[in-house]
Amino acid sequence: MISIPKGTKDVLPADSRKWQYVEETAREVAALYGLKEIRTPVFEHTELFLRGVGDTTDIVTKEMYTFRDKGDRSITLKPEGTACVARAYIENGLSGGAQPVKMYYIIPAFRYERPQAGRLREFHQFGVEVFGAKGADADAEVIALADSLLKRLGLNVKLHINSIGCPACRATYNKALKEYFAPHLGELCADCRTRYEKNPLRLLDCKEEGCRKINLGAPVILDYLCPECRAHFEALKEYLGLAGIDYEIDPRIVRGLDYYTRTVFEFVSDDIGAQGTVCGGGRYDGLIEEIGGAPTPAVGFAAGIERLLLVMEATGAPIPEAKGPKVYLAGLDDGCRKKAFALAQELRAAGISAETDHMGRSVKAQFKYADKLGAEYVAVIGGNELAAGVMNVKRMADSVSETVPFASAAEYFAKK
Ligand code: HAM
Repeated sequence: MISIPKGTKDVLPADSRKWQYVEETAREVAALYGLKEIRTPVFEHTELFLRGVGDTTDIVTKEMYTFRDKGDRSITLKPEGTACVARAYIENGLSGGAQPVKMYYIIPAFRYERPQAGRLREFHQFGVEVFGAKGADADAEVIALADSLLKRLGLNVKLHINSIGCPACRATYNKALKEYFAPHLGELCADCRTRYEKNPLRLLDCKEEGCRKINLGAPVILDYLCPECRAHFEALKEYLGLAGIDYEIDPRIVRGLDYYTRTVFEFVSDDIGAQGTVCGGGRYDGLIEEIGGAPTPAVGFAAGIERLLLVMEATGAPIPEAKGPKVYLAGLDDGCRKKAFALAQELRAAGISAETDHMGRSVKAQFKYADKLGAEYVAVIGGNELAAGVMNVKRMADSVSETVPFASAAEYFAKK
């Protein structure tokens, strides 16, 4: 028996309805905000993530699925969507059209992490990216989109916001961080000692218990923002107020990817344990330039679909049931079954969902099965019916029956 790789999951027919519901809701909300879908490849040149996500992040240093293809190119399965969408924006000249360019995507993403509840090696994201708008109103609109989706799905999660400034304020802040961490260097993990040299902000993202304790006393970036970044953060709060969105300021959010500037945010649930961040994002005004485009402001987020579903299950958020077929055609014997087979085909051609027996069941067993499927009507064809060219249609909800000629079957069900 060959089993599924660790950290991956099958979505079985009994569960796929929930996925479709979340995906459909996400598409509806994206449309309300004027976003169009973008689809990019599952794999990209590794270089894109080294430059985009950042070569001191855990994602890049430890978690990427990277391999050499037969042409000896280094290829990586996408660990996230933002860098891919940014590449597509540059490569396809989308910067030349009307701005902002507002896009969404639903993707699988791959990270070699230690699997646990809500943390997988293949997971799925609904992501949103807005290119070309630099104001905090765009940040607030992207947050409002995430908030609308979460509310529509019936989730009660908290929004945490922060600003991590621009490269100018980051330089002063990095200096302050280094001063704070210098006396603790010996107590930090090996990764953090490298982070201290290369990218001190990443120290705050360490998952090691020892480092996390030390991090608690570190200076916070909000105290080091330059006047422009401070004004942007104030404007964000004002726009969130205008959108009627509650938030908490959490000066400890730094996010796990290097491209962020100014606004960062996370929606966090208390209902699913340690991996409670269902959605994360922020502004990334330097990314497009970093990967070869003209300087372009941008903001976005991604929500983890598995985590959304976990919260929905944990809190009993309602998920509409999948509908059964409109009609189940039950046949008594071989001849009747053939008629049922042909009629089912006719009904489907008219856009009416229909099923029929493939198991040689008795009519009684076909009724039972149709009930299990949730069929709205069961149409029975026995010997007498076949001879008379009619079927006996029973509405399952109240057992009301009618005789319907084969010739008008499609018309009859189309009206129901
Ligand atoms: P991220 O915070 O790395 O951001 O991932 C976004 C969301 O994906 C997380 O909040 C979580 O719900 C889900 N997620 C991440 N890793 C896993 C995992 N191993 N298993 C299950 N779910 C996971 C990004 O990926 C950015 N690209 C978001 C963004 C878009 N920022 C700007 N635009």
